[in-house]
Amino acid sequence: MSERSDTRGRIVDHLGGDYLRQALENDVRTGLTASPKWLPPKWFYDAAGSELFSRITRLAEYYPTRRELEILRRRAVDVAGLTRADTLVELGSGSSEKSVLLLDALANTGTLRAYTPVDVDAVTLEAAAQRLAVRYPGLDVRPVRADFERHLALLPRTGRRLVAFLGGTIGNFPPAAREVFLKELRAVSRPGDTLLLGTDLVKDRDRLVRAYDDPQGVTAAFNRNVLRVLNRELDAGFDPEAFEHVAVYDEDNEWIEMRLRATRPMTVPIRALGLTVTFAEGEQMRTEISAKFRRDGVIDELSRAGFAVCRWYTDGFGDFALTLAAVPEVTG
Ligand code: SAH
Ligand code: TRP
Repeated sequence: MSERSDTRGRIVDHLGGDYLRQALENDVRTGLTASPKWLPPKWFYDAAGSELFSRITRLAEYYPTRRELEILRRRAVDVAGLTRADTLVELGSGSSEKSVLLLDALANTGTLRAYTPVDVDAVTLEAAAQRLAVRYPGLDVRPVRADFERHLALLPRTGRRLVAFLGGTIGNFPPAAREVFLKELRAVSRPGDTLLLGTDLVKDRDRLVRAYDDPQGVTAAFNRNVLRVLNRELDAGFDPEAFEHVAVYDEDNEWIEMRLRATRPMTVPIRALGLTVTFAEGEQMRTEISAKFRRDGVIDELSRAGFAVCRWYTDGFGDFALTLAAVPEVTG
């Protein structure tokens, strides 16, 4: 086997050994002993969670994926021409379904050499990497399993990089973490590097809530999946069906909040942590926020992190936005 075919599709894993386990233990201990209780969203995404998320993206109510695809179909060529990137680094790449639009455009521009999808879920990452390696025979596909809140400095830093962060995933950070994330990303970027950032936009409350609470219950199943992950990984004793999915729009903060509501009083052992957690009937635990953005806010946050915004693209309905920003040649 040549060295090249040997490395293609093989995952670089920054979550190996004890890392993921330690992080999960810390997060769960912190979140479930807090008041109110909360859990960080990255633990939704085991193989089953990624599959449920894929089903969410196909729901009629979940407009962000279709809108972002529409923008990419119209603008990927423009993005490729402006960035002239040779390396596409995609954070939270999941199934990499949108990436092909960027990869095609960059390939046509003639600059593309490498693609690095980055995700916490190894199963989905590996499948996406294999698929793209077959689709683009000349492309250097280097999947990295990493936590984009921790490992930005460990991602490939050579070449002229376009970092894509799609799906509105940046909205899953609370505002303070979002600021830290953007500053860290800026700190590991070099002049000539660019960022393509997907953000869902503020809109009518009913459409927002429906996108996060579909009648088929796919979103509910996705939300409860975090409890299944805890049962399996930490030998916990959650009865997922005893928790109800709740999605509310917080008008003041302009974010959707996902919660799990205990439908009866419960005492839940988290055996691997030697922890027992009690829930009162009706108690709600926060599992995720999904912030909605406005143009001025996005531009302001990117500027304060040291990026220069070059383009603001939206779909025809003004539902979703992609912002293209660059690392300036000279910073002061
Ligand atoms: N980009 C895809 C998927 C979005 S879902 C799209 O737009 O459709 C969010 C993705 O981010 C999931 O694949 C999830 O596994 C990944 N993810 C969530 N938290 C992460 C973290 N801290 N580090 C790396 N990947 C993460
Ligand atoms: N990044 C996605 C979003 O904020 C994740 C997501 C979609 C999600 N639907 C969800 C997370 C339901 C938790 C529950 O749109």
